[in-house]
Amino acid sequence: MSDVPIAGDMPFAVEVEKGKTYNWCACGRSRAQPWCDGSHEGSDIVPRQFTAKYSEKVWLCGCRRSRHAPFCDGAHNRPG
Ligand code: FES
Repeated sequence: MSDVPIAGDMPFAVEVEKGKTYNWCACGRSRAQPWCDGSHEGSDIVPRQFTAKYSEKVWLCGCRRSRHAPFCDGAHNRPG
C-alpha cells in the first residue's frame, strides 16, 4: 500500500461500537479520514470494511503502511 497517499503521520484514535460495521479509507484520499467518503472511485482501491468486536477506542492506520490495516501496527514509526 505504499503507492497510495498517506492520510497522516499518526494513527487515528476513534471510538467504535460493538457490532457496528465501518469502512476504513484504504486509498488515503478521503476528506473524512479515517473513514471512506467515496473518493476512491475510479481507482482499483476499495475501503477495508471491519465490524467492531467491542465498544472501545481503536487506533486506525493513517500512514497506510500497517500490515494489520485498518489497525495501526506502529509502521508509522518505521523508516521507509
Ligand atoms: S475514500 Fe479512500 S477507500 Fe474510499
